[in-house]
Amino acid sequence: MQEKINNLKKEILDKLSQAKDSRFLKELEVFYLGRKGEFTKILRDIANVAPEERSAAGKFANEVKNEIQKKFNELKEKFEESSEDVKDIDVSLPGEKINIGHLHPITQIQYEIEDIFNSMGFAVLDGPELESDYYNFEAINIPPHHPARDMQDTFYIDLPNKDGENDLVMRTHTSSVQVRAMLKHGAPLKAIVTGRVFRSEALDVRHEHTFYQVEGFLIDKDINFSHLKGILELVGKKLFGPETEIRMRPKFYPFVEPGTNGEYTCNICHGKGCNLCKKTGWLEIVGAGMIHPNVLKAGGIDPNEYQGYAFGFGLNRLAQLKYNTDDVRLFNGGDLRFINQF
Ligand code: DAH
Repeated sequence: MQEKINNLKKEILDKLSQAKDSRFLKELEVFYLGRKGEFTKILRDIANVAPEERSAAGKFANEVKNEIQKKFNELKEKFEESSEDVKDIDVSLPGEKINIGHLHPITQIQYEIEDIFNSMGFAVLDGPELESDYYNFEAINIPPHHPARDMQDTFYIDLPNKDGENDLVMRTHTSSVQVRAMLKHGAPLKAIVTGRVFRSEALDVRHEHTFYQVEGFLIDKDINFSHLKGILELVGKKLFGPETEIRMRPKFYPFVEPGTNGEYTCNICHGKGCNLCKKTGWLEIVGAGMIHPNVLKAGGIDPNEYQGYAFGFGLNRLAQLKYNTDDVRLFNGGDLRFINQF
């Protein structure tokens, strides 16, 4: 045993005499004295030495180990003292500024909206971005070949789903989560869905192929249009200030009946008319309506017992209005000069 230890000691000291920098020294230290190191193995083997010799062997091994460790430490100090790096450090210089980043402006708006609805008892749900034709269209009352499909330029995906059918699409709106949520949670139900949606758009200052939406719905007994108007008015005031008013005019969306758009008084000119609102004083922001009975049925909910309202906002549009930016493509463009302004 002693011989083994002496041999290893010789080997280590030999290597140490060749060590020229702290990196090599560190490698040696790990190789010999590390947890799985050569010398450490010997120390472990001492447990197998015959009992009458064990204590002497242990003592000897520890002495040698201390001796070697001391040598390592001396060299370590020597290398540190002579290191260029250390000499060059001027501790009086101010530190380097660490850039920690911040939330994307659309995420900021998303969180703001989630907070508003959370405070009124709405759950925040999500759903898949790669969606079935069924949940994106059919379940919400847009059958195949219905002209309403032309309202949304869809990315149809040329891949079979798990049942071998070609029915996958990139979801065109977060309304796709309505029926999923009804089937999962039943009625009454109060939820919003925030997330990314996709359309095969020709890109320009107002159109992106990838953007963000928030969908909201409430299903309960005796729900009517005034509840819808009330909540949309409240959200407008929270987002754009207490003097904000809402105006609603009929608009067709297949998943609601009656359907409506929602326009808010322009937050720049406060209704007087400016470029942002195209001199009308109003900004069209939301689509909404009373959930169509066919949609409730697809969600397993009896439309004679329950009613509901639904609405959808574009988050990019909200961000664009809030920050008064002229090109919606800037938000996903990845240009830090733009993003760092928020
Ligand atoms: N899904 C519609 C869109 O993307 C927005 C929308 C309109 C959602 C009316 C609704 C609604 O829930 O009732 O254009």
